[in-house]
Amino acid sequence: MRYDTPSLNRWHSRVHDSSFGYVSTQGAPLVDLLDPRPGERVLDLGCGTGVLTAQIAARGADVLGIDGSSAMIEKALAQHPGIDFIVGDGHDFTVADAYDAVFSNAALHWMNREPGMVIANIHQALTPGGRFVAEMGGAGNCAELTAAMLTAWREYGLREPDLPWYFPTPAEYARRLEQEGFVVRVLEYFDRPTPLDECPRGAADWVRMFASSVLEGLPPEIVEPLLGRVNELAAPALRRETGWMADYVRLRFAAVRR
Ligand SMILES: C[S@@+](CC[C@H](N)C(=O)[O-])C[C@H]1O[C@@H](n2cnc3c(N)ncnc32)[C@H](O)[C@@H]1O
Repeated sequence: MRYDTPSLNRWHSRVHDSSFGYVSTQGAPLVDLLDPRPGERVLDLGCGTGVLTAQIAARGADVLGIDGSSAMIEKALAQHPGIDFIVGDGHDFTVADAYDAVFSNAALHWMNREPGMVIANIHQALTPGGRFVAEMGGAGNCAELTAAMLTAWREYGLREPDLPWYFPTPAEYARRLEQEGFVVRVLEYFDRPTPLDECPRGAADWVRMFASSVLEGLPPEIVEPLLGRVNELAAPALRRETGWMADYVRLRFAAVRR
């Protein structure tokens, strides 16, 4: 199986229930919630450069990382020899042999074309009783950042940008999971203000790094002033003495295939 999704190569290559071993508490790392056991077959969907894939492998699981970006997969293969990684799209993948668990961190909200299809593919990839453990952006994620963008775009007379994410409410995602044949065991929804350490120019850098598709097709000469205006608009809510802080909101869940 090999897919390539060229658009994803824009990515900068640089987480008490009997099914899960313990009751999750807010802040518990996602790999702990997954609780991979030696010999288990685990699929890491949207694995990026494989940092968490390697943590799962280090616990003895037999893990495969899948990502839509060939650049990410090349790095993952180079950085983690001995772990299997392939290019694949969450909307369109099948596996030959079923997995005990599917894991996904910070990736499902990018699979925004048809979220139900992604969940259905994950369901098909699991054995009955298999676990689906993930964290993603939830409703309200980056609300201040996106409000600043929308206002700046409007002020510049630009068409409203197509934002490339799916940030569901807990109720909406739980309904989708149940519709596709999962039982939801754990579902958390929480604010996680996150320092923008890699964005010295604050919201402007964040847009370039995480929402670069909205800049495509804009007259090059307006990009800098437009992003400068995003910074001005976002600063009152997000700029602290210590630096910029993104207003992240997360959904974290563990579900079981019926
Ligand atoms: C923020 S990164 C997270 C990477 C990794 N899970 C981690 O926690 O370090 C999101 C990843 O999702 C991948 N991605 C986005 N859309 C995808 C899709 N439709 N199918 C597969 N992977 C996708 C991106 O290429 C990127 O590597």
